Amino acid sequence: MIELKDLNKSFRTAAGLVDAVHDVNLRIDDGDIFGIIGFSGAGKSTLVRCMNLLERPTSGQVIIDGTDLCGLGRKQLREARRGIGMIFQQFNLLSQRTVEANIRYPLEIAGTPKAEASKRAAELLEMVDLADKARAYPVQLSGGQKQRVAIARALASNPRIILCDEATSALDPITTASILDLLKRLNEQLGVTIVVITHEMKVVEQICDRVAVMSDGRIVEQGSVHDVFLRPTSDTAKRLIEPSQGALTIDNTPNTLRLAFTGEESGAPVISDMTVQCDVMVNILSANTENIGGKAFGQMLIQLPDDEAARQRIRAYLDSRGILYEESAAVPPAEPVQEEGPREVRAEREKLEDAAVREGSVL
Ligand SMILES: Nc1ncnc2c1ncn2[C@@H]1O[C@H](COP(=O)(O)OP(=O)(O)O)[C@@H](O)[C@H]1O
Ligand SMILES: [Mg+2]
Repeated sequence: MIELKDLNKSFRTAAGLVDAVHDVNLRIDDGDIFGIIGFSGAGKSTLVRCMNLLERPTSGQVIIDGTDLCGLGRKQLREARRGIGMIFQQFNLLSQRTVEANIRYPLEIAGTPKAEASKRAAELLEMVDLADKARAYPVQLSGGQKQRVAIARALASNPRIILCDEATSALDPITTASILDLLKRLNEQLGVTIVVITHEMKVVEQICDRVAVMSDGRIVEQGSVHDVFLRPTSDTAKRLIEPSQGALTIDNTPNTLRLAFTGEESGAPVISDMTVQCDVMVNILSANTENIGGKAFGQMLIQLPDDEAARQRIRAYLDSRGILYEESAAVPPAEPVQEEGPREVRAEREKLEDAAVREGSVL
């Protein structure tokens, strides 16, 4: 378990003191995939670097499995750090070493005999699907392959925690998805706790269980991805989430129903089941549901039938399934069409019309 207590980190700069991390209290349970999200400059990297004391906090505690790292001597700290792997946006591989030698490197430093280190490196290469690249050099690899090497290297000493600082931010969306899948698989197979620092909500959606939102060095919101994603309360979370969530609005669309899927139900089966159960055809106007961890999140806008009895059946159905919905106002009664304006206006129009006919512009 990782516990940060009253953590502060400030940097002295020419321009004065910068409070990069301010009064952070956070608990990350064993086996979690925990996201820390925020815009650039929020203090995420500083916070995660405090977790393994790459940055020494100005005050507060970094407690890993009950031990405050700040209280350890150099030798004990080195030992503790072996239990915490880290990967970065820029991979940080040694260009002069082969893939296999990069993975062996932390083991060599820790004094592991060469044969044992080689055996472990071979296992790790298998684990990250790069067995055929053992003798390649980093320059010969794609970004995704480099990050796999970095992940294998981070796993070399059998850490219980992996810290990922924008690990997929330099990768294209497909490669990002494959790296996130790999991290999820490692989390499931090895039980390793993963801390994911990112500025991308999609990354959090794809693999995290819980998330903390950071702004100006502070944690402004935290909770399950489900809750924070659906009901963001902080401005930062709303700004981060809205581009992917895209607010559907029913304000200007009469006779519609906005359904909110909050993870319990997936969208399509609900609609098809509803048409059968309620014996109505419904028209889906728009939808932005997303599948997160096998559950549907998002919203759907459907058109209501004209028949009030059918609408009533739909409401009862949604209520019985506990699906949140919001209904727009019924179609407003049509405004009586005014054939003619007031007398003076009519007279004016007739004059213009006559003139136009005379000029030949109206036939
Ligand atoms: N070594 C440093 N010296 C001075 N200021 C720093 C240093 N590292 C980070 N900062 C400042 O701390 C704040 C948080 O930075 P950082 O933790 O890198 O944020 P993020 O990773 O969320 O983009 C920024 O204002 C940044 O300029
Ligand atoms: Mg950063």
